[in-house]
Amino acid sequence: MICSPSFLSSDFHRLKSEIESIKQAKWIHFDVMDGEFVENKTYDESMLKEISQYSKQFFDCHLMIVEPQKHAQKYIDAGADLITFHYEATNQPIALIDEIHKHHCQAGISIKPGTDVGVLDTLLPLVDLILIMSVEPGKGGQKFLDNAIDKIEYLNKKRNIHAYNFLIEVDGGINLETAKIVKDAGCDVIVVGSFLFNSDQRDLLIEALENV
Ligand code: DX5
Ligand code: ZN
Repeated sequence: MICSPSFLSSDFHRLKSEIESIKQAKWIHFDVMDGEFVENKTYDESMLKEISQYSKQFFDCHLMIVEPQKHAQKYIDAGADLITFHYEATNQPIALIDEIHKHHCQAGISIKPGTDVGVLDTLLPLVDLILIMSVEPGKGGQKFLDNAIDKIEYLNKKRNIHAYNFLIEVDGGINLETAKIVKDAGCDVIVVGSFLFNSDQRDLLIEALENV
């Protein structure tokens, strides 16, 4: 699996050294929260711009915002390689996927724990990634919710039957134990926040998580 460290759990006062501590990771996960789609508010595209000065990693941008169609462009311009928006945040997911692709960026779609995975059926051939939330979006450090496992298995089965190309990513409550569970269900990318950033041996932990 690919480990995508969730930058939300890092120390924003030491950006450069925090990035250095996760140089083993090929991806970085940016959680963008607007205080509307979720209660908390985090950073905006300026954070991606700043970090792009000292990272060549794949920028995995998770938009937890309302009206993502109005803001996606800013994140593409700031260096996002993948923009994932929430199914619950827009009525026109296909138009947004097309718009993101038009700008040579990858497009992902995410569902909250309470959303049925079947709502994504028609979008499966169109996206590069599906992000299954295994906690309520809004903050790091929460406990993994088991209903993510059935959703991953469902998507993995659909992907095999139809030869779709999307990656399956899981976000929330990932540690060595839950990483193994989601891997066995068919997950390709794990987002890891507090479990990774609480460790002082991050490079070793990234390797361990990618090879559970
Ligand atoms: C939650 C965010 C996650 C979060 C993961 O809304 O999307 O990316 O930071 O943090 P942990 O790994 O601590 O659950
Ligand atoms: Zn996230």
